[in-house]
Amino acid sequence: MITLGIESSCDETSIAVLRDTEIVVNHIYSQIEHVCFGGVVPEIASRAHLEKIDRLTASALNEASLSFRDIDLLAVTDCPGLAGALLVGVSFALGIHNGWNIPVTGVNHLEGHIFSAMLENPGLSFPFLALVVSGGHTAIYKVMEIGRYECLGQTVDDAAGEAFDKVGKMLGFAYPAGRAIEQEAAASPEDASGIRFPVAKVNGNPFDFSFSGLKTAVKYFLADKDADFIRENRPSICRAFQKAVADSLMSKLAAASHKTGIKDAALVGGVACNGEIRRQMKRLFGDRAHFPRPGLCTDNAAMIALAGYKRSLKNLTRFPHMEPSKGL
Ligand code: KG4
Ligand code: ZN
Repeated sequence: MITLGIESSCDETSIAVLRDTEIVVNHIYSQIEHVCFGGVVPEIASRAHLEKIDRLTASALNEASLSFRDIDLLAVTDCPGLAGALLVGVSFALGIHNGWNIPVTGVNHLEGHIFSAMLENPGLSFPFLALVVSGGHTAIYKVMEIGRYECLGQTVDDAAGEAFDKVGKMLGFAYPAGRAIEQEAAASPEDASGIRFPVAKVNGNPFDFSFSGLKTAVKYFLADKDADFIRENRPSICRAFQKAVADSLMSKLAAASHKTGIKDAALVGGVACNGEIRRQMKRLFGDRAHFPRPGLCTDNAAMIALAGYKRSLKNLTRFPHMEPSKGL
């Protein structure tokens, strides 16, 4: 079965072709149009998707040596995301659906991230825990099967990726700053500086996260330091910040595994590229820690196509709509 995946929820335009669960092509255009604004500008994102989506699809089909008549299923991200950006992908999918009479299914973007853990990874089976950590979301899901998810906890304020990006901005890095912070932290010898940031305590649900206090702690730490101190200590500041995020994510994930008895855990979303978080997770879960390769952690259409394909096998396809799906 050939599935064409379409992703346009934020600032990546992506088109993928899957043959059953195998990636044939996964083309991604990451919009550079936002860099000078320090964050994603919704209006610019929608226009950039519109400019790229048609040609990206043509080149993906061309590389796969396929045409629309070979496609059995269209899978398109329909929520959550920037409304104008989603509308580009959904309208494009509905155009192909009507023109070529190809079945179409909407896929929740977070469901896509969850299923990115199953791409190229036959060792992962249900049930598993999925820690979704991206620029817009931080949550732990119990994944029972396709379409059956339970949110065990989520951030009560900023997402982890958002904290990386905001702290990165304070330290002079361009948006998005996660990768730059990781690279800078790698230049700091372990624990040499004594700089530490606190892991936030959240009242109520033990699996909820909070990152805005950490962001404020970095801000206050920097407030009374001069530019020379910040420049010299930037690697240690990045290392301490990254460690505080990793400690918070991993302590909650370990607690969720303990509570549910589920031993397999997947780390997905853009922040899952981070080596320090991966190392901590490997220490905790060993061979039962699952990570997509970095190119499949950030937004891509292969994960949307896989979730759509799995939906179709269980007759769970649904017409694209822009309402939040149950459980996610
Ligand atoms: O999943 P994604 O591509 O888009 C959303 O759905 O949000 O995630 C983007 C986020 C950004 O906040 C970016 O700074 C972060 O992922 N990120 C990282 C790393 N690479 C990307 N955060 C920490 N370490 C990294 N290596
Ligand atoms: Zn995402």
